[in-house]
Amino acid sequence: MNPKKTITLTAPAKINLFLEVLGKRPDGYHELETVMQAVDLVDTLTLEVTDQGIELTCTEPDIPCDENNLAWKAVRVFQKETGIKGGARIHLVKRIPIAAGLGGGSSDAAAVLKGLNTLWNTQLSGTRLMDMAAQLGSDVPFFIKGGTALCKGRGEIVTPLEVRRRFSYVILYPDIKISTASVYKNLKIDLTIKRKDVNFILDVLSSDNVNALNISLFNRLEEAALELYPELRRYKSLLESYLSDGVLLSGSGSAIYGHCENQREAKNVKEQLDKLGIEKAFVVSNL
Ligand code: C5P
Repeated sequence: MNPKKTITLTAPAKINLFLEVLGKRPDGYHELETVMQAVDLVDTLTLEVTDQGIELTCTEPDIPCDENNLAWKAVRVFQKETGIKGGARIHLVKRIPIAAGLGGGSSDAAAVLKGLNTLWNTQLSGTRLMDMAAQLGSDVPFFIKGGTALCKGRGEIVTPLEVRRRFSYVILYPDIKISTASVYKNLKIDLTIKRKDVNFILDVLSSDNVNALNISLFNRLEEAALELYPELRRYKSLLESYLSDGVLLSGSGSAIYGHCENQREAKNVKEQLDKLGIEKAFVVSNL
């Protein structure tokens, strides 16, 4: 029997339901406590193993299709760690906005690692894949697991969480590309302020107390990003004009999401945003 040579994978976006920065680390990264939620806005990757070389094509003209792309780097890391000399051809159908705090590039990279593990039949453990993922970026390990998770360290220490309820969100992408590093750089770490306690949202997610979700959403990076990109405030206020609370920047931005009571409300808000000519708005649920 011929081994399987092609696989199609979906790579979900994430939103950060909670993100607290605990401090700056000696390696320049920040120590985090964040709750990541995978949602059903996805990129699709077709992955084919070849004899040699890496080829990458993408539907989105704005992203590099070379060694600067995280999906490409994922093949390199996989080759290096396993000693496999074979190559890969990747076609990426991009739906997740880029440089938006939605983890699209990280998710694509995680999908490549998982896909190669299947196609090359390397049977690497989850731990090995997580180690490779951490070499690629702080958010990549989360996407090896997906679902909902509490992520610590620089993001790579991932503890899955069980969420039994379906939550609906609308995501607004303001067509602004943000560099994560610039937002962290603009963050003023005030050691005198009281850190937000992650346990509150953890309790909400494991209970049926949906109403408390809105008041437990938090993102320490939001103010730093809004300061750098003041036009984001207008988009946040716009979403708040429909939802009043439960509206937050995802990660380092620029995407802003709002928690909706149900899918119908999320669809209504999206329709309003579409009418205003907002570039991209998405109705999503937790995966
Ligand atoms: O790990 P990743 O390459 O995704 O991180 C991008 C940038 O975000 C880092 O270079 C760093 O400036 C910042 N970062 C950070 N602390 C983290 C994660 C990211 O300072 N925990």
